[in-house]
Amino acid sequence: MLATIKSLGLSGIDPFVVTVEADIARGLPSFEIVGLPDAAVKESRDRVRAAMKNCGLPYPEGRVVVNLAPAGMRKLGPIYDLPILIALLVAQGSLPPVPHHVALLGELSLGGDIRPAAGVLPMVLGAPDLGLRQVYIPAENAAEGAVARGVDTLPAAKVDQVVAHLSGRGSAPSVPLTPPAATEHYRPDFAEVRGQREAKRALEVAAAGGHNLLLIGPPGSGKSMLAKRLPSILPDLSFEEAVETTKLHSVAGLLKAGEGLMTERPFRAPFHSISAAGLTGGGVHPRPGEVSLAHHGVLFLDELPEFPRAIMEGLRQPLEDGVVTVARVGYRLTYPCNFMLIGAMNPCPCGFFGHPTKACTCSQSAISRYLGRVSGPLLDRMDIHIEVPPVNYDQLTEAAAPETSADIRRRVTAARKIQSARFAGSPGIYHNAAIPPARLRQWCPLTPAADRMLRAAFARMGLSARGYDRVVKVARTVADLEGSPVIDVPHVAEAVQYRSLDRKYWSR
Ligand SMILES: Nc1ncnc2c1ncn2[C@@H]1O[C@H](COP(=O)(O)OP(=O)(O)O)[C@@H](O)[C@H]1O
Ligand SMILES: [Mg+2]
Repeated sequence: MLATIKSLGLSGIDPFVVTVEADIARGLPSFEIVGLPDAAVKESRDRVRAAMKNCGLPYPEGRVVVNLAPAGMRKLGPIYDLPILIALLVAQGSLPPVPHHVALLGELSLGGDIRPAAGVLPMVLGAPDLGLRQVYIPAENAAEGAVARGVDTLPAAKVDQVVAHLSGRGSAPSVPLTPPAATEHYRPDFAEVRGQREAKRALEVAAAGGHNLLLIGPPGSGKSMLAKRLPSILPDLSFEEAVETTKLHSVAGLLKAGEGLMTERPFRAPFHSISAAGLTGGGVHPRPGEVSLAHHGVLFLDELPEFPRAIMEGLRQPLEDGVVTVARVGYRLTYPCNFMLIGAMNPCPCGFFGHPTKACTCSQSAISRYLGRVSGPLLDRMDIHIEVPPVNYDQLTEAAAPETSADIRRRVTAARKIQSARFAGSPGIYHNAAIPPARLRQWCPLTPAADRMLRAAFARMGLSARGYDRVVKVARTVADLEGSPVIDVPHVAEAVQYRSLDRKYWSR
């Protein structure tokens, strides 16, 4: 008898239905699987066979052929263990046929335990649109399953539970969902950073408008410390943002056990030894890269000049498009990547170029070479450049406590509210940094005086067209922080100032 069982696959973060067909014919015992990559076939066969024997389930005699369709789509091998096993039971008549609105997925241990899987969240979220009403998922992914609407997710820990339920004997597999213990975990706070008022202001502007930012200053001035505190002033994830970000982490297999939707914006800080595939996505078994794991959050590149040129160049397209495409023979995948890029760097190899008290020991050419490692186009995409000078003794020992992140966050959130109203009806635009060139005039009206000032700065600074757009958008954010509908002189002045380090460091 031919058995047909539904399962799910992923192209990027978009789910599709995988159909598992099993046929058992008379003949010498054999077990063939088609439609999976070769290496996965052997492993799946071994696991399914062992799990059946160890769970006391009847293993078919005769020639077994299993087909996974559609043939052209890339399938993630291990999660088809469970549907293959169930298909074998149905094909033997040991289980009644499984209705077509039911799907199963899960890798098996040799003993019949169902192991956690990557990508459960995007699969169950897309299940209703694929005509599915029930999906058996691994018990450890229960929290992800609980996020889905319009589909029953049945979290099972063992094959026996699934078999019992499908045969009408057992109750529906479920696991009690305990919300993760509300541990008071430490979050870095801006109150711990003394002095650095200009840098904090720049980070506030960046957070308010979703702008990219570059911190430049001597070692120990607090650049890394400042960058790590950026998430603490970003607005809460909206439900849609949380879903998108969590999907990517789910596909990458990075969700912690019991984690349903992510509640905090991601902060990714890859080391400079990262590979191109690790940064932007791809690889032999394609998965989202750091740019996508930072979706709706922060990508922090500390010690920016240490990153190889090719890695920096690889950021241009994701920064520009907000999505990464991975092309492979026969298919292509896309992963979204809307992130804030934060870079930090010393101004020269010894770190003390421009330092108020310490002498820099680097030669002019060594400084130029060092700064030159940051590619021009990448520099151009950093909307805000800010110097982080060393803190002095008085600032460090000041009695007055600095503002907390919660205080700053209130202002950021207010500025984002104004933006949400502005972009209502423009899907995909969450903040000023994402304003497309065509809408610049409409959404960023300048007073005549502000326009004159920007015109003068444009000529003086030799801004590119992209640079111009970026300055206007930063000015828009500065105005929003003040609650001003139009962009006026002080707003433009501040935005222009954030581009002035170019001349001090790069165009000397
Ligand atoms: N403004 C500051 N206020 C309080 N502590 C600071 C400040 N700047 C630096 N520090 C201290 O110095 C350490 C080194 O700072 P760090 O952020 O690593 O510097 P950088 O990245 O610029 O080299 C921090 O962990 C912190 O303990
Ligand atoms: Mg540092």
